[in-house]
Amino acid sequence: MVGRRFAELLGAHPWFEIGLLVGGEGSAGRSYEDVWEAKEAALEAHYGTWARRAYPAHLKGAQVGRFEDITTSGAKIVFSSVPENAGPRERFLLDHGLQVFSNSPYGRFDAQNPLIVPEVNRHALDDRPFVKNPNCVTSGLVLVLDPIRRRYGVEAVSITTYQSLSGRGDAKYARDLVIGNVLPLHGSGENTETYIGKEVKKILDQPLPISVSCSRVGVQEGHYVDVRIKTSQPIGTRDDVVALLRDYNPLTGSGLPSAPEAPLVVLDEVGRPRPSCDASHHDGMAVAIGNISTSDEVYDLRLTYVVNNLIRGAAGGAILNAEIAYLARA
Ligand SMILES: NC(=O)c1ccc[n+]([C@@H]2O[C@H](COP(=O)([O-])OP(=O)(O)OC[C@H]3O[C@@H](n4cnc5c(N)ncnc54)[C@H](OP(=O)(O)O)[C@@H]3O)[C@@H](O)[C@H]2O)c1
Repeated sequence: MVGRRFAELLGAHPWFEIGLLVGGEGSAGRSYEDVWEAKEAALEAHYGTWARRAYPAHLKGAQVGRFEDITTSGAKIVFSSVPENAGPRERFLLDHGLQVFSNSPYGRFDAQNPLIVPEVNRHALDDRPFVKNPNCVTSGLVLVLDPIRRRYGVEAVSITTYQSLSGRGDAKYARDLVIGNVLPLHGSGENTETYIGKEVKKILDQPLPISVSCSRVGVQEGHYVDVRIKTSQPIGTRDDVVALLRDYNPLTGSGLPSAPEAPLVVLDEVGRPRPSCDASHHDGMAVAIGNISTSDEVYDLRLTYVVNNLIRGAAGGAILNAEIAYLARA
């Protein structure tokens, strides 16, 4: 799933050119269009409600290569979206001198691998060969928390997620668990709740108490997240917070092709943000925020956001990191 977005974005990228597309053993040697169509058709047949994503015209004729061929392909960097259990393949590529930009949970919590969301901690990217971005929910959450913590300090956070089906990739849940239903992820093998808590602390470099509750819902794309925050300093007015979030743009003027015009889009309408309307602001690289309140009886600030799990939360995030690394070297 993430790989398809990588291919789509990189195939049209102004700085990078695709050298080789690689999948698992079963895909090697096949037409990429056939692999793509089969995966989208399987999701449509399974869920019934799935809107197939069309095969991009600029990838016409692409073939899926073998993993072993990466090291002799002439490629300089690899974008990886392998499952955690295939993570050692990233190590293999690093050992062969390639730079790897990765979405996989593999190695995310090793001390030497920072998790990069460039608006928040691009200083940690430096010239390292292994660049990881965090989980999809975290990618949006740290963007929301960063301006708040800079202005008011953040003491504690509580989040509840409503995560989309594409967040599980091409793996499929039994239909009745997620269509017309809500599937709690607490205690499941997906480890999402644990990952988010650890990742936020790591990126913000702060032992922030965070309470996380995750669920899967029958939405195709875009994770919806409810956030409640206790701040260190007294919170300003709602208008102050809206202005703070709207002004946040540490990458202004960076010239990076994937940097959004603004990473946070604040919506005032009642009933927004919603994944179906708000997962694609600035090509999926911006987080949509709404339902901001500074008059909650328990928390200093509450809001909700929608993050595009496949773009900002995965492929687009990794490509933005690679653009920064490339620019630093150019
Ligand atoms: N989906 C999201 O929203 C999201 C967001 C952030 C991070 N991530 C992370 O990104 C990764 C991919 O997620 P996904 O949703 O795209 O999962 P997915 O749809 O299941 O895709 C997994 C991909 O990995 C390939 N693969 C599996 N084993 C491999 C191996 N041994 N060597 C090379 N390729 C192998 C598969 O190729 P074949 O199909 O050819 O077998 C497939 O292309 C995961 O680590 C996930 O945690 C996902």
